[in-house]
Amino acid sequence: MDARLWFPATERNRDPLAAVLQPLLPNSGLVLEVASGSGEHLCYFQQRFAASHPRLRWQGSDPLEEHRASLVAWGEHLNLMTMEPPLALDATRRPWPALNPALMLCINMIHIAPWQACEGLMVEASAQLSPGGRLVLYGPFVEDAVPTSPSNKDFDASLRNRDARWGLRRLEEVTALAARFGLQQDRRWSMPANNLTVTFRRLG
Ligand SMILES: C[S@@+](CC[C@H](N)C(=O)[O-])C[C@H]1O[C@@H](n2cnc3c(N)ncnc32)[C@H](O)[C@@H]1O
Repeated sequence: MDARLWFPATERNRDPLAAVLQPLLPNSGLVLEVASGSGEHLCYFQQRFAASHPRLRWQGSDPLEEHRASLVAWGEHLNLMTMEPPLALDATRRPWPALNPALMLCINMIHIAPWQACEGLMVEASAQLSPGGRLVLYGPFVEDAVPTSPSNKDFDASLRNRDARWGLRRLEEVTALAARFGLQQDRRWSMPANNLTVTFRRLG
C-alpha cells in the first residue's frame, strides 16, 4: 500500500515558495508546518535545503490521518529519515503541545477552513514562536487596495458554495487578528497565480 497523495498545486508553487523561504530560514531549530496536506511541500523543502541548512529539523502536521500517512509515505519514499513524525495539529483544537519552532509555515489552509482556524493558528503562533520568530502564510487573499482577480473571485464563490464558513480571507483582517496576538505583519510577496506570501513576526 502506498499512502502517498499528489496535490497538483504543490508542483506549481513549491519553487516560488522555496525562493521566498530561503532567506527566512533559521540556521537551526524546528520548522513547523501546519496543514501539511499531502506532505509534498515539507519533503521538497527538506530536500532542497538539506545542504544549506543541515541543522534544521522539519515537523509536519495535519488533522487528517490520511494526510499524515501521506507525509510519512513521502518521507520514506524520498528517504528523509530525519523528518519528525507528523502531529495531528488542528488549529481549532487547542492548546497544542509546546514545540518551540524557529519558524512556522502554513500553506493554503485559512481559506479552506472556518475563520476559527485562522484565529487558532494566530493564537498558537503567538504561543509557540519566540520573539523574532516568524509565521509564513501562503494562499489567495482579498486586499482592500488591490483589485481581486476574476479567478480568485470565482474561487471564493466556489469555496463558499462548498462550505459557507470558508472563503478567501481579507488580508487586513488577518493582519489585525495577528496583531491582537502580538504578531506583526512584516513582509508581503506577490506570488504566481494571484497568491500571496505574508510573514508575521512575533514581537518581544
Ligand atoms: C488545500 S489543503 C493544503 C495542504 C497543503 N498545505 C498544500 O498546500 O498542498 C488544506 C489543508 O488544511 C488542513 N486543515 C483543514 N482544517 C484545518 C485546521 N482546522 N487545522 C489545521 N489544518 C487544517 C486540511 O486537512 C488540508 O490538509
